[in-house]
Amino acid sequence: MSKTYRAAWSAPSNIAFIKYWGKYPGQIPANASLSMSLDACSTHTEVVAETIPFCDFPEIVFKFEGKEKPSFLPKIEQFIRAILPEMKWLTECRLIIDSRNTFPHSSGIASSASAFAALALCLTDIEQQWQGNSQNAGFFRTASHRARLGSGSAARSVYGGYTVWGKPPVIAGSSQQFAVPFDDEINNELADLHDDVLLIDVGEKSVSSTAGHGLMNGHPYAEARFIRAADNLHQLTVAMRSGDVEHFFDILEEEALGLHALMMASQPNYILMRPNTLAAIERIRQVRRSEHLPVGFTLDAGANVHVIYPHTAEQSVSKFVKAELKSLCANELYICDRIGQGPKPNRHEQ
Ligand code: PMV
Repeated sequence: MSKTYRAAWSAPSNIAFIKYWGKYPGQIPANASLSMSLDACSTHTEVVAETIPFCDFPEIVFKFEGKEKPSFLPKIEQFIRAILPEMKWLTECRLIIDSRNTFPHSSGIASSASAFAALALCLTDIEQQWQGNSQNAGFFRTASHRARLGSGSAARSVYGGYTVWGKPPVIAGSSQQFAVPFDDEINNELADLHDDVLLIDVGEKSVSSTAGHGLMNGHPYAEARFIRAADNLHQLTVAMRSGDVEHFFDILEEEALGLHALMMASQPNYILMRPNTLAAIERIRQVRRSEHLPVGFTLDAGANVHVIYPHTAEQSVSKFVKAELKSLCANELYICDRIGQGPKPNRHEQ
């Protein structure tokens, strides 16, 4: 008789402070990265697995916001193919996946991290039900390892707070296979950060992540970049522990601009910043210099600007964002987010 298993998880989007850019086969990062999981921006996914007679590959129905979306299937099938060798039970089921984001799909915010993290959490959850186990200590680590095979940055989205993926010598227990939480002794000032995401350009990404990482193969500055990333990660953790806000912003911004510089110096090359990206960056730096507001920025592989600041400066920075940065956003839209607690099982949906 056919059996049905269900799991529902929400997983956060994350913003990298130390960027992952460049990878080796098997989705192994060329350098370690460090990110902050967000609170408001997340993906909610529900998976129903119905047992069927053995087949080579699971039958998959994918729905986005309740509607079937066959255009997303190739990416999901590629992910399932990558995890199949360690999740053989998938060949005995039909999967119905229903997913939605809390942020607009075309906002330019990367959804692959939260999407693959939520999916990996659901499948790892169902695997435990299938095997009759209760959630074990390695649950999130296993889910992180699997999420990584969907999208590298997704490995970091199975935790809240700050997360490290890769193997920097300064982070005990870290790995290239999965991410680990980074939570040791962070100074109060930098333990609770906000991220106001300025939606400068809301179109689809003009360079896919796969193509982007590929640009680092044979890149003239690759070797120097990977050494610099390791040093920046070390310096950033030192600044986060000591509460050196100025040094923190120096490294944060160097990483963001470094990512774009690598893209601009690649073959082919891309300019993803827009005039309003630069205008926002200039205003942020100016207000930090002239009014000593503790505010800085980072960028993803796109035109949007992530405005980062400590919770203690919320009132003054929010005022500044509204007065000086809002008008630079497409349709004056920006998303107020902050550090989040991490994934949540959505038991009520079961
Ligand atoms: O996870 P991917 O393959 O989409 O790569 C993410 C790359 C950046 O967002 C630019 C940096 C990062 O570490 O998240």
